[in-house]
Amino acid sequence: MDLFNVYPINPINIVKAKGSTVWDAAGNAYLDLYGGHAVISIGHTHPHYVRRLTDQLNEIGFYSNSVEIPIQKELARLLGELSGKSDYHLFLCNSGAEANENALKLASFYNKRKKVISFTKAFHGRTSLAVAATDNPNIVAPVNETDNVVFLPFNDEEALQQAFDSYGDEISSVIIEGIQGVGGIQEASVPFLRLIRSLCDQHNAVFIADAVQCGYGRTGSFYSHDYAGIDADIYTMAKGMGNGFPIGAISIAPKFKAVFGMLGTTFGGNHLACAAAVAVLEVIKQDNLLKNAEEVGQYLITELKKIDRIKEVRGRGLMIGIDLPEDLSTLKKELLEKEKIFTGEAKPNVIRLLPALNITKAHADQFLEAFDRRLKVL
Ligand SMILES: Cc1ncc(COP(=O)(O)O)c(C=O)c1O
Repeated sequence: MDLFNVYPINPINIVKAKGSTVWDAAGNAYLDLYGGHAVISIGHTHPHYVRRLTDQLNEIGFYSNSVEIPIQKELARLLGELSGKSDYHLFLCNSGAEANENALKLASFYNKRKKVISFTKAFHGRTSLAVAATDNPNIVAPVNETDNVVFLPFNDEEALQQAFDSYGDEISSVIIEGIQGVGGIQEASVPFLRLIRSLCDQHNAVFIADAVQCGYGRTGSFYSHDYAGIDADIYTMAKGMGNGFPIGAISIAPKFKAVFGMLGTTFGGNHLACAAAVAVLEVIKQDNLLKNAEEVGQYLITELKKIDRIKEVRGRGLMIGIDLPEDLSTLKKELLEKEKIFTGEAKPNVIRLLPALNITKAHADQFLEAFDRRLKVL
C-alpha cells in the first residue's frame, strides 16, 4: 500500500529533536522556527513533558468519557487560571477543525439559528462546517457547500454593521482568528473585534474566537484576541495545546448550558492527551513563557523591520509574517537548504515564523544572521 499523496513535502527525515533543534537521519542539525506548524509550544521532547507522558502511559493511556477522568479537571483548572477564564467550561476534542466544528454547533444549539459570519482569507479547518467557513474554494468539496456561511471582508466594520442591520436576527455566530495564520499573518483590528463583540451582544449571536494557531500564549497574551480587551463567548484551541500530542478544546462562557449528549467524542480528553496538555501548561506557567514569547517576538519584529528589502513585517509575539517581494521568493527554501532553518509560509510570498514559546534571543540572532547572509547572495 502506498500513501495517499496530498502533501508537498521536504525530502528530510527528522529522527531526533530537542528544544528548538531537530536532527535529520544524516545527523544534520536544524533550527526549528516552524514547530510543525505552530504545534511545538514548549520545545521538542521537553523533559517535564516526556516525564509526564511516560508516567501517565505507565498508569493508563486511554479510557473513554464514560468514566471519571480526574486529569480533565486538573487541565480545566490550569487552563482557566492561565487564560484568565476560570468561570468558563471546557470541552475536549482532538484537533483544531473539530474544536471549530463543535463551537459552531454549540452556537447554533444555543440560539437555534443557522447563519455563520466568517471573513476573507479565514482558515478554520477541513471538517464539514469548519471548511465551509474557510475562505478557500479549493478545499471545499461539493458536499461541504452551504448557504449558511457568509464571508465578509476582514476588518471591514461597515460591511459587518450592514450585515447585522439586514439579517442580524438570523446570525448564529461570528468566527474570527485574532491573527489570521494561513491568511498570511493578518491581525484583526481592535475596533473590529470590539464591534463583533457589541453586535453579537445586541443580536444574541455567538462570538467564536478561533485561537487554534494564534492562541495558547503565542502572541504574548494567552489568546491573541485578548489584546482587544474583550471576552469571546467560545475560544477554540488545538495546535500548541499538546506540544505535538493531538488534542483540541473549546472554552465555553458560563451562559451556555450543557445538555447530555449535545457534544461528544470517543478520544477527546483521554488520559494521555490530558497529561500532555497539563505538562504544557505547567511549563508555560513555571517558565513564564508568555513573557518570553512577547519579548523575543518583539525583538525579532523590531530587527526584521529594519531590513529594507522586506515589504512588510506583521504579527505579534512569536507569530510573525515576513512579506517578501517577488525577487526573494526562494528565500524560505534557501533558509532551509543552506542555513538549515525551518520556517513556515503563507501564499503568495510570506515567511511565517511560529517557533516554540521558549526560543532564546540567541536563536533569534542565529535566524537574523542567516537571513542577512541569504539576502546578500539573493
Ligand atoms: C486558525 C486555524 N483554525 C483551525 C485549524 C485546523 O486545525 P487542525 O489542522 O488541527 O484541524 C488551523 C490549522 O492550521 C488553523 O490555523
